[in-house]
Amino acid sequence: MADAAADNERMSTWSDATRTVQEDEVAEGIEGGEGEGAEQQQQQRQEAAVAAAVSPVALITAGSAGVGAATARLLARRGYRVVINFSHNTERARKVVGELQQLSRLPAHEIQNNEHEHGTRNAYLAIRADLGRREDIGRLVHETVVQMGRLDVVFSNGGWTKFRDMTSIEADQKAGGDKTTDNAIEEDWDMCFNINVKSHLWLMQAAKQYLDETEGAFITTASAAGIYPSGSSLAYSVTKAAQIHLVKNLAVMAAPRIRVNSVSPGLLLTEWSDRFSDQAKDAYRQKTKLKRFPTVEDVAEQVLTFAKSRSMTGVNIPLDAGFMV
Ligand SMILES: NC(=O)c1ccc[n+]([C@@H]2O[C@H](COP(=O)([O-])OP(=O)(O)OC[C@H]3O[C@@H](n4cnc5c(N)ncnc54)[C@H](OP(=O)(O)O)[C@@H]3O)[C@@H](O)[C@H]2O)c1
Repeated sequence: MADAAADNERMSTWSDATRTVQEDEVAEGIEGGEGEGAEQQQQQRQEAAVAAAVSPVALITAGSAGVGAATARLLARRGYRVVINFSHNTERARKVVGELQQLSRLPAHEIQNNEHEHGTRNAYLAIRADLGRREDIGRLVHETVVQMGRLDVVFSNGGWTKFRDMTSIEADQKAGGDKTTDNAIEEDWDMCFNINVKSHLWLMQAAKQYLDETEGAFITTASAAGIYPSGSSLAYSVTKAAQIHLVKNLAVMAAPRIRVNSVSPGLLLTEWSDRFSDQAKDAYRQKTKLKRFPTVEDVAEQVLTFAKSRSMTGVNIPLDAGFMV
């Protein structure tokens, strides 16, 4: 929680992350100009500086577990206010919000029940929205901005798969069965395309005007499976490749004010990968050059780097412990 050292750290990360915070603008506002017009301008500048002088805000989709929750924790420690999104498990999302409040370096009065024009402003929130529904994504962005007043970083982290046998393209004829070996089931492809590709586009479009205002960053979680034939299903691997290409295109379209990048993890030990057998997980680890699994904390650090760097856009960073080398 807040102490002097933490406040110092917060101030340095704060200005890293928030280009709109201009201390010299405040000073200029207080000391500058003459006459009524100048006075008015001074006041406007002061008000703008005060309005801008709030901690940056990150929206993290699929943020109540795994990669999303780890990134929320890191950003909370680094002075960001954070909105996490989830779709089913309200209790888990509530617990993560509680953790973020504990980890926060913000002054106590900014963490909870901070009065503002729409009521009270909490620095950490969870918002339920299904990333499979475009209207939910629009509402998620709208609610975030209404509650937080600004948006600096969007971490578009949602993904979907149905585990299939990655060594087979044979049709699985089992009537009513799980079709575990079939990689050509149309519903799988539609769901994968909807969440792994389209949801990121919908989110970027909904958030663009707010990221433009803050010269913010849009970051997605793709996958090593989008670079190298691997992962949980053919539909997943191919749509993660499409996501990486989407990000490069968005980087062109959103420039020069917004930076757009992606991170591509290899196998992470989250709930998601619980569905791989221990044998499959060990085979992955053995194939990495570093003989380890990448971690959710590794991914969170990369997201923070993307959030802060003023010079990276259109980049996809593999984080796979040397699986693909
Ligand atoms: N784990 C890996 O090995 C691995 C490797 C490479 C890439 N990735 C990518 O990393 C990202 C995150 O994966 P993870 O391993 O962190 O997953 P995870 O631990 O299983 O967490 C899933 C999160 O997504 C939320 N969620 C699920 N369906 C949702 C929906 N329709 N709308 C909104 N939120 C939803 C869950 O909340 P609720 O349960 O409340 O809905 C939870 O917060 C995905 O894009 C995945 O493709 C994972």
